[in-house]
Amino acid sequence: MEYQAKELFAKHGVPVTLGVVVDQPEDAAEAAEKLGGVVVVKAQVKAGGRGKAGGVKLAKSPEEAVEHARAILGMEIKGLTVHRVLVAPAAQIEDEYYFSFLLDRSNRSYLCIASVEGGVEIEEVARTNPDAVKKIPVDPGTGVDQQKAAEIVDGVGFPDALRDQAIAFVQTLWETFVEEDATLTEVNPLARLAGDRLEALDGKMTLDANADFRHEDHAKYVDIDATDPLEAKAREKGLNYVKLDGQVGIIGNGAGLVMSTLDVVAYAGEKHGGVKPANFLDIGGGANAQVMADGLDVILGDSQVKAVLVNVFGGITACDEVANGIVGALDILGDEATKPLVVRLDGNNVDEGRRILSEANHPLVTMVETMDGAADKVAELANA
Ligand SMILES: Nc1ncnc2c1ncn2[C@@H]1O[C@H](COP(=O)(O)OP(=O)(O)OP(=O)(O)O)[C@@H](O)[C@H]1O
Ligand SMILES: [Mg+2]
Repeated sequence: MEYQAKELFAKHGVPVTLGVVVDQPEDAAEAAEKLGGVVVVKAQVKAGGRGKAGGVKLAKSPEEAVEHARAILGMEIKGLTVHRVLVAPAAQIEDEYYFSFLLDRSNRSYLCIASVEGGVEIEEVARTNPDAVKKIPVDPGTGVDQQKAAEIVDGVGFPDALRDQAIAFVQTLWETFVEEDATLTEVNPLARLAGDRLEALDGKMTLDANADFRHEDHAKYVDIDATDPLEAKAREKGLNYVKLDGQVGIIGNGAGLVMSTLDVVAYAGEKHGGVKPANFLDIGGGANAQVMADGLDVILGDSQVKAVLVNVFGGITACDEVANGIVGALDILGDEATKPLVVRLDGNNVDEGRRILSEANHPLVTMVETMDGAADKVAELANA
């Protein structure tokens, strides 16, 4: 969110004014007074286009700030409910620029996208006047030093009066991007204020979760309000789970196998009322009873799920361990396991795995030998 991005900007010396974040309309008055009376009240959601949606409003007095905060709190912007507003001093804007660094995956590089025609119409500018939006590759090996920053600033065409400030801005924003392990950092508008001062009036950052281990402070940026409750529960249990929209719960081992399982289930679902996968869940290696129970518990907690497919290829984790895991998990869950389970096991120690499941003879479990057969069976059950 903007206020969080600005916190990170301030930490690295990018010019910003922090303001005050409130979640109660009445608190906007004190914030406005503290900031000198004339303020902007800004919705804090992880989406762009807040201004156009009516989520950014100028208030000339503390009373007006409360009114705007009341109108904006609770508002929906691009499907996200506003729980917080930022009260920031109103700036005297003379010009608005757009500036961003991002990871350019297709070119295995970084990219700077910038324009001197920034502001809330930047998407429109990109459509109608693409030449006004500059794209400058940044070599990941060398990054942005003083010289590269100057090349960027001149390439974008910042006014001469701002050149030195712009070069310093580009360098500090690059440092923020690199040191925080971001995949995107965007400033729109980067504003030219009265007196030729450059300041980031808005900010957005996408942080790379793969680098969370070296940024303890990033945990506080997780938006709990907007996280799906099942995904939150799965994260607590250390499961690699993504909620999807369908009716067939999926458990597999290995991301590749799970991805293919989603495909075959979606394909089989076409013959069975259009049922689709309800989730991605990779339990990885070591599918013991507890991990299996945790996974099933999360999936069965999804009221849309009608049937579950367990698709495991025994490698380092042998099929007999997985079979014991399934039997143990059903024991742990007891009456909470209520939906049919189709199990497909193959690979290391498959005979023993199948023997264990046959012997347990659990009323909810159907064993199917092939992946396509299992997908077809589970789709049929989910559609029943
Ligand atoms: N502190 C401020 N003082 C005066 N005007 C402001 C201030 N902050 C924002 N604005 C005005 O409101 C517009 C929209 O605000 P902002 O860019 O923060 O939100 P946004 O609409 O979500 O952005 P985007 O279009 O980049 O998604 C800005 O372009 C600017 O003109
Ligand atoms: Mg903006």
